[in-house]
Amino acid sequence: MEEELLKIKEKCQDCQKCPLGKTRTNIVFSDGIPNHKLMLIGEAPGFNEDQTGKPFVGRAGQLLDKIFASVGLSREKDVYICNTLKCRPPDNRDPLPAEKEACRPFLDAQLEILKPRLIILCGRVALTSFLTHEKSISKIRGQWFDGPFGSKMMPIFHPSYLLRNQSKAVGSPKWLMWQDIREIKRAYDELE
Ligand code: URA
Repeated sequence: MEEELLKIKEKCQDCQKCPLGKTRTNIVFSDGIPNHKLMLIGEAPGFNEDQTGKPFVGRAGQLLDKIFASVGLSREKDVYICNTLKCRPPDNRDPLPAEKEACRPFLDAQLEILKPRLIILCGRVALTSFLTHEKSISKIRGQWFDGPFGSKMMPIFHPSYLLRNQSKAVGSPKWLMWQDIREIKRAYDELE
């Protein structure tokens, strides 16, 4: 599994299929542990990720680590983390449809190699890459949907949205995230 992933990563390092190949510092392929249980798919690298080559290392990433830790999950031991785009869009703008399309084979390869049982779709960009119906993330977050290779997928809020919404009141985005991560942990514990 790790060797297969490495081959795909090497291909990604040479990729010039879209203009982001020219502007990136590093590709951001994955972090965490390759495993068949739990994958998180985020949006795209930001400044810190582009500099380090690691997903979710900025403020949003630190919050994500805390959210996982709150239910006893860790990025080092339990989760494989990647993004819909492997290169940073300039000024952190939303990925363009053509960039998503060019990059998709890398994500599909990661999914095919790992065949994770549970997939967390982190934020709107990841959500709309898999679930094409009209519903917004706030309507369908926290629900399980059928995903590729017999997996279950759950959309959750992006941690950068939580950074902009600090309330922990019942029904707030942070409170909803707490419900969602506990449900993810419950499903994770049920896996053999
Ligand atoms: N936001 C994402 O969606 N992915 C990252 O890797 C960093 C921030």
